[in-house]
Amino acid sequence: MDRSESTSKTDLYNQLAAQLSSLLAGERDLIANAANFAALIFHALPDLNWAGFYFLKDDELLLGPFQGRPACVRIGIGKGVCGTAASTRATTIVPNVHEFPGHIACDSASNSEIVVPLIKGDQLIGVLDLDSPIDGRFDSEDANGLNRLVSVFVETIEWQ
Ligand code: SME
Repeated sequence: MDRSESTSKTDLYNQLAAQLSSLLAGERDLIANAANFAALIFHALPDLNWAGFYFLKDDELLLGPFQGRPACVRIGIGKGVCGTAASTRATTIVPNVHEFPGHIACDSASNSEIVVPLIKGDQLIGVLDLDSPIDGRFDSEDANGLNRLVSVFVETIEWQ
């Protein structure tokens, strides 16, 4: 990635952080804020075919608000990219999902993926999952930018 591309990606995430803060301001409902967050990034970030949430429920990940094609509903902790990010609590970038052992294919258009764990206090709430049809779509700038957006979201919502 050259410097200008890097700068514009940073600018985009800066703008998105400001937009997300105003979009979620004054509302604490988990589903409402997750739905608006998913819609914001799906339409603002280029080259995505899926953007949405899985939330922790009964020791597994359960599908939450999203944009894109219908997706698998339940994912075990440690399973697939989402379950791996949940169990390690680490942002997980997969440049080529076809080479990720145990990848769960929901949309055949997906070729790369990034999953950001949602942590409130020391509690795992769930994950934010983005899929792209482009190989290697996500990099450390996306990881940093998305973690910043996730912090804004997690601050707004109440959890259990
Ligand atoms: N690919 C994910 C499953 C969720 S969908 O991409 C929406 C995974 O391997 O965990």
